[in-house]
Amino acid sequence: MDLTGQIANFHFNHILLNAAGVKCQTTAELDQVLASPYSGSVVTKSATPMTRPGNPSPRYYQLPEELGSVNSMGLPNEGFAYYLDYVLNKKTDKPVFFSVAGLTKDDNLAMLMELEQSNFNGLVELNLSCPNVPGKPQTAYDFEATRAILTEVFSFFTKPLGVKLPPYFDMVHFDMIAAVLNDFPLAFVNTINSIGNGLAIDPHTDTVVIKPKGGFGGLGGSLVKATALANVRALRERLNESIKIIGTGGVTSGRDVYDLVLCGADLVEVGTQLMVEDTPVFERLEGELANELDKKDYQSLAEIRGKLQIIS
Ligand code: FUM
Repeated sequence: MDLTGQIANFHFNHILLNAAGVKCQTTAELDQVLASPYSGSVVTKSATPMTRPGNPSPRYYQLPEELGSVNSMGLPNEGFAYYLDYVLNKKTDKPVFFSVAGLTKDDNLAMLMELEQSNFNGLVELNLSCPNVPGKPQTAYDFEATRAILTEVFSFFTKPLGVKLPPYFDMVHFDMIAAVLNDFPLAFVNTINSIGNGLAIDPHTDTVVIKPKGGFGGLGGSLVKATALANVRALRERLNESIKIIGTGGVTSGRDVYDLVLCGADLVEVGTQLMVEDTPVFERLEGELANELDKKDYQSLAEIRGKLQIIS
């Protein structure tokens, strides 16, 4: 059975990888994801120019499994140079994603310039959607700011680049972000980042479950699946064919992966469930995905990709 994917000139033997932020902050974690025979790739934790401790703990909370998680990590990472050193020296046959999330436009431009001038030959993700840095809005909710940064980026950047997007909730906003993205030679978009600024309460203590931002944090896991499907579908319907889609959000089963592909995803990232099960999750999900295809006599993901039916 063909369970592979393709973005730009990169071939992925498996379509699953980690979502940035999960199992990708240290070289040991990155190695562990790459070492899974069922991962197609790895994405680094979104880097800032310098190492960052992130927000105070507790900053991640696992809700009951049928719900998901809430987090406000605040971009803890080892700094741009650490990840550049990793991707330049790591020997792997799998394509690698380098994610950057500067806190300012200038930080992003500086990191992308360094990547452009480096020997890095993988894919680059510009994360415009972290909801957890106090005082910093998610850039991709500002369509003009998104256009402005992409205009500057593509004045010098020539390597395969994609953007990580927040979820959108309005059909007009799908139209507006797609109109911006279609004006640039993007290799991919990654949708969705966590649903920003949810709130969970511990019923025993009547207290929020995470410390940063008074308890407000990004939602992930099962409770975001419908939003993830809608964003993959809406963007696939609107984006140029050359812009591939990484579907992220709400994956706990092979059927969830199948549904994201049905909506148009080329690759699928796993976040909350990777936290729960660690890297064995890739084998379970791929096995379940193969079963789903087998049940319907499909031999490849290509047969279902983007083939969601609607009721006429
Ligand atoms: O808080 C965080 O580190 C999350 C980052 C992201 O959502 O991109």
